[in-house]
Amino acid sequence: MPDQNYAPSPEFAAQAVGTADLFDQAEKDFEGFWAEQARTHVTWRTDFDTTLDWSDAPFAKWFVGGQLNVAENCVDRHVEAGNGDRVAIHFEGAEGDTQTITYADLQKRVCQAANAFTELGVRTGDRVAIYLPMIPEAIVAMLACARLGAPHSVIFGGFSADAIRSRVADAEARVVVTADGQHRKGKVAPLKTAVDEAVRGEDSPVEHVVVVRRTDADVEWTDKDVWWDELVDRQSTEHEAQAMDAEHPLFILYTSGTTGKPKGILHTSGGYLAQAAYTNRIVHDLHPETDVYWCTADIGWVTGHSYLVYGPLANGATQVVYEGTPDHPHQGRWWEIVEKYKVSILYTAPTAIRACMKWGADIPAKYDLSSIRVLGSVGEPINPEAWRWYREHIGGGSAPIVDTWWQTETGAIMISPLPGVTTLEPGSAQRPIPGISAEILDDMGEPFTEPEKVGYLVLTKPWPSMLRGIWGDDARYKETYWSRFGSEYYFAGDGAKYDADGNIWLLGRVDDVMNVSGHRLSTAEIESALVSHPTVAEAAVVGAADDMTGQAVWAFVILRGDAANDDEEKTVADLKAHVAGEISPIAKPKSIMVVSELPKTRSGKIMRRLLKDVAEGREIGDSTTLTDASVMDFIKKGMSKG
Ligand code: WT7
Repeated sequence: MPDQNYAPSPEFAAQAVGTADLFDQAEKDFEGFWAEQARTHVTWRTDFDTTLDWSDAPFAKWFVGGQLNVAENCVDRHVEAGNGDRVAIHFEGAEGDTQTITYADLQKRVCQAANAFTELGVRTGDRVAIYLPMIPEAIVAMLACARLGAPHSVIFGGFSADAIRSRVADAEARVVVTADGQHRKGKVAPLKTAVDEAVRGEDSPVEHVVVVRRTDADVEWTDKDVWWDELVDRQSTEHEAQAMDAEHPLFILYTSGTTGKPKGILHTSGGYLAQAAYTNRIVHDLHPETDVYWCTADIGWVTGHSYLVYGPLANGATQVVYEGTPDHPHQGRWWEIVEKYKVSILYTAPTAIRACMKWGADIPAKYDLSSIRVLGSVGEPINPEAWRWYREHIGGGSAPIVDTWWQTETGAIMISPLPGVTTLEPGSAQRPIPGISAEILDDMGEPFTEPEKVGYLVLTKPWPSMLRGIWGDDARYKETYWSRFGSEYYFAGDGAKYDADGNIWLLGRVDDVMNVSGHRLSTAEIESALVSHPTVAEAAVVGAADDMTGQAVWAFVILRGDAANDDEEKTVADLKAHVAGEISPIAKPKSIMVVSELPKTRSGKIMRRLLKDVAEGREIGDSTTLTDASVMDFIKKGMSKG
């Protein structure tokens, strides 16, 4: 049934949080609509007087005059409302260890951590870096920072020492929170060693490293280090939270752009929290009293920020937090967890769904998944085949799937069906949610609605959880997002088209950004890692379509004269390891081809488009602008050789 779409069932629609009239309300009174969402989903110490100040566009101010404390919204207010006994987190450790953390427990732990950070000298406005596995302390540390108004910068636990050093330096973080190691598929992997390397030296801004005991691995100890338990456990479980301005910075999260230097995406408090909570309610159809919610993302990515920490906790949800991988100790691990906690809402990535598909439907079939009533997808387009498999084998053939399009920069979901309202179209993220406006533009920057024509996705109005800039680089913010089609349009970097029903289909990045398993990588960043290796003279990287990971990293390298005669297989293996070490294992090229030349235009620009044709096994496209058209013949021959 390739063209089948799926209307909501009347039973689901009857209980759904989202309703069709939200679209009309937002249409009629844009600011009034968002003001209402902000007052419904957030508790303000001081109410705001201006919903949106766009006078200094593209630098937005939302809910001006309002004051709030984000951590108080995520924790304390639920305890005060009499829900202190509600489970906030069912923690499922990688080694089978578990913790049940109620909102009352979470409040105590966050207060203790806030007191501990204060003792280390952290003040409102100071930056704190967090480099932790998926353990409760990660969430506690983030909320403690929010409580103090000390913006956090979470660094994904798979990133290298270099990545930590550059992020810590850019944000001038005074404190880093890490652990003595992390559990990975039954083994202990180092974690603190990367921090040690990153904060070494006189010029590091880092004064303290707080170390959570997680694995009992031996670690080297420096005079910056302090154990989390020795520092935090002796603190008072009470802490008086201060109210922050709506626009007080909440966090910085680094993401890949089109250059080698990651961008520190800045998010602030009131608008971010309002949209994270609102979308989590209406898009995931969250009923906090009865649902058990599980977002499988790592806190190192924006999905973990908005839909594991801030959105669900602001809504007082009960959620599962899982430290391990889907296939350890066996390929039914996720479904075992769903059965155990009776998970009702599952939010994950297409790449994980495709992996489960490959392992076979008989694996989830062994578990009772009848608790599931809503499924979500995020990070890359979900192909209709994976969509149908997900609905059939995980969603019992009936759960609505929300394919949610958004970005680190947007902070929260922007384009998605609403379960119970939208007739679902597999493979399409469909329409902007109520309060959000998008269009597709042609090469000339003109909006169009013709079906099947390919253009560029833009957002046409500011939104509460939008990035407030790139940390320390206002010019780059304007240039990257607000100049491609003029200052009226936010350029998302994605290609898109409409179908005949007006649904939006996302077609992948149009810039030099790749999407591998839902992780964002820049070609320039990997190229610069490759050329930092002594054997490499030049490198070109492309993202090529891949059945399993969406895109895969393909690299083409020219070796230096003296390395050109080395064992090629060994060189390639060394280079793969080098990229993994410089950036992260996620960035490791799937294929590296040693070539003698790269296809370049007369102005010296590498024609990545042609390399992509090679990597995807296609006929080579138009190469008439090349300086030397025979280059592509050589590269193709190299391919067939291998
Ligand atoms: C890029 C943003 C959204 C949080 C995780 C990734 C792609 C994201 C979808 C989707 C098609 C998607 C886009 C976007 N993307 N969701 N549902 N359908 N593409 O955040 O690392 O900032 O990456 O991910 O290309 O621009 P991110």
